[in-house]
Amino acid sequence: WRAVKLRPRRRPWRRAGNRVVAQAGSYKVAILGAAGGIGQPLSLLVKMSPLVSALHLYDIANVDGVTADLGHCNTPAKVAGFTGKEELAGCLAGVDVVVIPAGVPRKPGMTRDDLFGINAGIVRELVEAVADHAPAALVHVISNPVNSTVPIAAEVLKRKGVYDPRKLFGVTTLDVVRANTFVAEMKGLPLADVDVPVVGGHAAATILPLLSKARPKTAFTGEEVEALTRRIQNAGTEVVEAKAKAGGGSATLSMAYAAARFLEASLRGLDGDGDVYECAYVQCQAVPELPFFACRVKLGRDGVEEVAAAAAELRGLTEYEARALEALKPQLKKSIDKGVAYAQQQP
Ligand code: NAI
Repeated sequence: WRAVKLRPRRRPWRRAGNRVVAQAGSYKVAILGAAGGIGQPLSLLVKMSPLVSALHLYDIANVDGVTADLGHCNTPAKVAGFTGKEELAGCLAGVDVVVIPAGVPRKPGMTRDDLFGINAGIVRELVEAVADHAPAALVHVISNPVNSTVPIAAEVLKRKGVYDPRKLFGVTTLDVVRANTFVAEMKGLPLADVDVPVVGGHAAATILPLLSKARPKTAFTGEEVEALTRRIQNAGTEVVEAKAKAGGGSATLSMAYAAARFLEASLRGLDGDGDVYECAYVQCQAVPELPFFACRVKLGRDGVEEVAAAAAELRGLTEYEARALEALKPQLKKSIDKGVAYAQQQP
């Protein structure tokens, strides 16, 4: 496998005779929650992608300014803004990928699960609209708690009769991005070379970096494994606490970077690149008792093409990793069940 970097394969230009002209992308992307802390920088990064021809921005507030601002960037993607429930259908019509960062972020002292009360309803409502207006699109869920919001999205899509497990993703790329950064810093490795698979879920101890499977092969002492694992698991809280002094919020810039990297990977998969692998929280059999699990998947023309590598990656774990995997199972199962129960209780 080869790690996907935020570096498009396709050139943003092509030659026409002796002229250089912009290469038109062909994919349409919608971002729901586009005016938020993650939504704005994510929209900018997507606007820069040569694979994107149309960028639809939806939010319940402040979307006009973001649309006008981004629309002045001289990159090919055409930007359109949508606001209010009645404009959701227009926003979603014909899109290939829907990215959902809508919802409230954590404040200091909160767990991701504390966001459930508000974000569960937001994700349910938005995914209902996706089922109605973009049933074939890939759906990238960023809104926390991802461990529960993805099962909610799956139930909503099932109820609407359009669920395709290959097309629904919880975005856990930020955990991989953080793991790569922290390992490179600790070991003095070139950042571009480091790739650490991160499996499990996207909350506290459910985030499990597999340092024994890091590329390039790297030796860690027991203390280093412990320190890195804790830092990767608590990195979100590190940002929440640092931001508390000035306005609050959780990770937005690094999250936008991570979401853009995952989107680029998905678009390359749709585009027929046969060599795209990323970790994501998906429905899979990697751990039979957990219907959803973050693992490395191969991305293709219909979303997830293969999770076989994921099960293989879970073999030959160190004792530390195997214990951590066992320990995370009940917590992750509880979050999945909570999401499913919530969605099934809805009228
Ligand atoms: P924010 O509060 O800055 O932005 C959220 C945006 O969603 C706002 O513009 C708001 O108007 C919009 N929104 C709220 N309800 C909506 C609805 N029904 N339809 C459309 N838009 C709606 O929050 P931020 O920092 O952008 O975080 C967003 C979410 O992402 C949070 O749930 C946060 O926990 C999560 N997150 C996930 C990460 C991950 O790794 N998956 C990492 C960091 C944050």
